[in-house]
Amino acid sequence: MSMPQNDTERPGWANATTTLNGMRVLVLGGTGGVGEGVVRALLDDGATVIATSRTRDRLDDLATRIAHPRLSGETLDALASGLDERAAQLAARHGGPFDGVVVSVASWGAQGRKPVLSLTDAEWDEQVAANLTAVFRLYRAFVPHLATAGALIQLNGMSADIPFPGAAGVALTAAAQKSLTRTLAAELGARGPRVYEVILGVIRTRARQEAGIDDAGWIPAAHVGRHVAELVAGTSPLSGDDLHCFADVTRGPQSGTRR
Ligand SMILES: NC(=O)c1ccc[n+]([C@@H]2O[C@H](COP(=O)([O-])OP(=O)(O)OC[C@H]3O[C@@H](n4cnc5c(N)ncnc54)[C@H](OP(=O)(O)O)[C@@H]3O)[C@@H](O)[C@H]2O)c1
Repeated sequence: MSMPQNDTERPGWANATTTLNGMRVLVLGGTGGVGEGVVRALLDDGATVIATSRTRDRLDDLATRIAHPRLSGETLDALASGLDERAAQLAARHGGPFDGVVVSVASWGAQGRKPVLSLTDAEWDEQVAANLTAVFRLYRAFVPHLATAGALIQLNGMSADIPFPGAAGVALTAAAQKSLTRTLAAELGARGPRVYEVILGVIRTRARQEAGIDDAGWIPAAHVGRHVAELVAGTSPLSGDDLHCFADVTRGPQSGTRR
């Protein structure tokens, strides 16, 4: 029997006392498969959540599924001009610096699965822009609008570390995202905000479950959200590590720097 990805049950490793009451968390890519689970978990823990999408339609769909007074939706495109101004506008509209910014942004591109040497120049450029330039631009725009004690959390996949045949664009940008995020963490250091890179295994998303694609060994998206909530609150035992790996549903998140 499949477990709903948005189950509210708290996994064994999650801190039962985590509360985000009064905190504001921006989920960039909140309409995505992983992002939706993160949004649900943050709301469960008391946060005010601002989810973003490139389109109002996707935000309306999300609001239909999660009708919650502490959830709002904002359109935002990481590759659009005026991103820095848009970030300042969102921070001002939602009450000042954010306590957490979650980057859960990804694009598979239109090229489908393709061997690396078959990629055209245009496909290469599109993948790098959509998955790497986008993340860099989001960091540059939103870190100035994070509270000093706040947390920036980037959700990434295991292709940051291992080959992904047929999906070179996703894999190479994942590896570069990991490098970018850890470099930012080192540059900010103790000054804050805290910066986390979370490498995920396969996730049980709502869309996958609705398509009948499921596996009890995969990680419910809401469990990723629980980890994110603990990082924002500072209650995670991993709060002092910048690199985490969450690939095993029973073990929960692990330090990536101690592997
Ligand atoms: N799904 C998994 O099993 C899995 C496993 C490991 C790691 N991850 C990681 O989790 C993260 C999210 O993946 P996902 O599966 O949730 O992807 P997804 O379902 O495709 O969602 C992607 C999200 O990114 C947003 N987005 C894409 N391009 C954007 C842009 N230019 N500007 C602003 N927003 C943009 C999309 O917004 P729109 O509403 O505008 O489309 C959507 O909300 C990725 O970093 C991925 O590597 C996922």
